[in-house]
Amino acid sequence: MIKLPGLIDPHVHMREPGQTHKEDWDSGTSAALAGGVTMVLAMPNTKPPIFDASTLDLALGAAKEKARCDYAQFLGAGPDNIDWGRHKALPLQAAGLKMYLDQTFGELRLDSMTLWQSHFQNWPKNLPIVAHSESRSMAAVILMAAIYDRPVHIAHISLKEEVLLIKAAKERGIKVTCEVTPHHLFLTEEDISAIGGASLRLAPTGATGRGEVRPRLAAKEDVEALWQNLDVIDCFATDHAPHTLAEKDSETPPPGFPGVETLLPLLLTAIHEGRLTINDVLSRMVTNPRRIFSLPEQPETWIEVDEKAEYELRAANMHSRCGWTPFEGWQVKGRVTRVVLRGREAFKDGKILVEAGYGRNVRAQKNVESTEVSFRALRMIK
Ligand code: NCD
Ligand code: ZN
Repeated sequence: MIKLPGLIDPHVHMREPGQTHKEDWDSGTSAALAGGVTMVLAMPNTKPPIFDASTLDLALGAAKEKARCDYAQFLGAGPDNIDWGRHKALPLQAAGLKMYLDQTFGELRLDSMTLWQSHFQNWPKNLPIVAHSESRSMAAVILMAAIYDRPVHIAHISLKEEVLLIKAAKERGIKVTCEVTPHHLFLTEEDISAIGGASLRLAPTGATGRGEVRPRLAAKEDVEALWQNLDVIDCFATDHAPHTLAEKDSETPPPGFPGVETLLPLLLTAIHEGRLTINDVLSRMVTNPRRIFSLPEQPETWIEVDEKAEYELRAANMHSRCGWTPFEGWQVKGRVTRVVLRGREAFKDGKILVEAGYGRNVRAQKNVESTEVSFRALRMIK
């Protein structure tokens, strides 16, 4: 049995408000705890999207009532909320600003580079910006980070050209950090047919069935480049993006995979196989996300893992409402047996033991002061 710190997942979709048939703050944070994740940062592409004080209240109201692990909520960059200077308190209440620069699930996409520039200029320099930017838009957003001399965190990188670009940018002192998802580390485009889904049969050419995800599953060469350049990758983040099986099996499957419950078993299996060390995982799932997003420590919080348990991943044993996983039937080694969150036993042997509402907003008012202090400390280190 090994004891590890609670993991931080800086990229999840809780689907509330608006799409609670896929997931909600209760089922999503229960799934997180079952996966050994004690803190999640939730993305803003909900219905409605989270982009101002009243929509942030909607998400945080639901989270306060239902979340079982700790959390913060991102604001989304849109065409009408560029004036961050006028709403000084609002950015501090969010996990950070999420900028969608490429097509994906939801309505939050910024097409005009003038809007990107406005957000880069107006969002407080000491608070996080996360960019969904693939390939060339990634190159453009890294240039903007350099021009405005501010940090940017790149979500879910998946390509060789991307990891090499970030490596080169880091070598030149540009303040860029990045994350990779387990599915982009453990799956390639060759796995799409095994993941399955009805639309593969409905439209044989170009259809990706349940394997539909943004960024797309990549070629073997890309996946190998991620593994070869692990030192460039700051965080592992699941991009837990649940959609129901019926949706995934429709003619037009929405992109996204659930991920919080398969994350640690997959990483522990890779450790067992000698592809990763435990420190590789802890730096990318605890210390780096805490530093990049300026997150507080969680006192009296740890997870217990049976590193010898061998079993098959089964969606039927999971807590997410979506009811499927792209890793169905995968043989893994390593099981989360117990999670203690702020002194309370939160999960044990497959059961969630804390009530809905136990989770804390780590950016809540009483925490904002310490957030500011740690951001100041962060700037001094840099
Ligand atoms: C995400 C979703 O479903 O919200 N989908 C995905 O394929 N990753 C959106 C996103 O993170 O791009
Ligand atoms: Zn996402």
